[in-house]
Amino acid sequence: MADALTPRHRWGSTELELAAMPASPPEGRETLIRIRDLHRRFGPRHILRGVSLDVYKGETLVILGGSGSGKTTLLRHLMAMLRPEEGRITVRGLGAGGGDLDMAQASEQQIESYRRNLGVVFQGAALLNSLTVLENVGLPLIEVDRLPVDQVRSRVVEALRRVYLPAEEILNLKPAALSGGMRKRVGIARAIIQKPRIILYDEPTTGLDPVTVNGVNELTLDLQQKIGVTSIVITHDIGAAFMIADRIALLYKGRIVACGSKDETRANEHPVLQQMLTGSTTGPLTEGYAK
Ligand SMILES: Nc1ncnc2c1ncn2[C@@H]1O[C@H](COP(=O)(O)OP(=O)(O)O)[C@@H](O)[C@H]1O
Ligand SMILES: [Mg+2]
Repeated sequence: MADALTPRHRWGSTELELAAMPASPPEGRETLIRIRDLHRRFGPRHILRGVSLDVYKGETLVILGGSGSGKTTLLRHLMAMLRPEEGRITVRGLGAGGGDLDMAQASEQQIESYRRNLGVVFQGAALLNSLTVLENVGLPLIEVDRLPVDQVRSRVVEALRRVYLPAEEILNLKPAALSGGMRKRVGIARAIIQKPRIILYDEPTTGLDPVTVNGVNELTLDLQQKIGVTSIVITHDIGAAFMIADRIALLYKGRIVACGSKDETRANEHPVLQQMLTGSTTGPLTEGYAK
């Protein structure tokens, strides 16, 4: 009897992959980014299969997903490095003349101006090895904003202090002279240097030691509280998700199959979430699902 009630028996493949319908924002929240029925194919491989998700202004939304599930692909759409080939992404107020930006329709110029509101923390720190910390972090100010050298320097110092780095000591060092955790912080400083409204993080803690992981998570929270940006964090680390998220979404088989607050996520019986929560080696993530 108990056996008949286990998720494995109740959840067929269709239910496992069924997209969660985006809820309307709670009182006092507004939707900043709206993704509807987004698809992406690479040749014959159908990676995103109808992603629908709303990101609320000012929240930290964590998107969980297994390795190869399409997390970076989704992020590249949010960076407008990939345009929707099917489905829609709209960003409220960041289009021409303060209107909404439609990612499929927008001109290159509109995309450029959207990107100036965006900070990206890449998987790995993605710093340029031949440049100093000052040059790495200041690059957008030099190349895009064309600010004079002394202003670049003071803005870089400010950004480095925000991520708790000893700015004066490391300004002229190359990335190779820094620890992994420090490089990650420098990467975050670069992401915030243009005072973005949206920060995208791609697996910010992957490959770091546990103490550094906590430091980076705390930093994400701290930036959220101090500069009030909207953050989208992509990760496979459910511990990090519960530490920093306002809401948690799960990307599975090309769709968002669950999305809610931490309490809603804990209570969600979706077998993939449950497997992630318990760290079990048996479940749909590791053995395929019951047909
Ligand atoms: N430009 C591309 N060309 C072909 N296949 C790609 C490309 N980008 C990603 N993929 C494939 O799409 C799948 C999802 O990749 P990705 O979004 O990087 O996953 P994740 O970030 O969740 O690990 C992978 O199987 C990957 O090989
Ligand atoms: Mg990835």
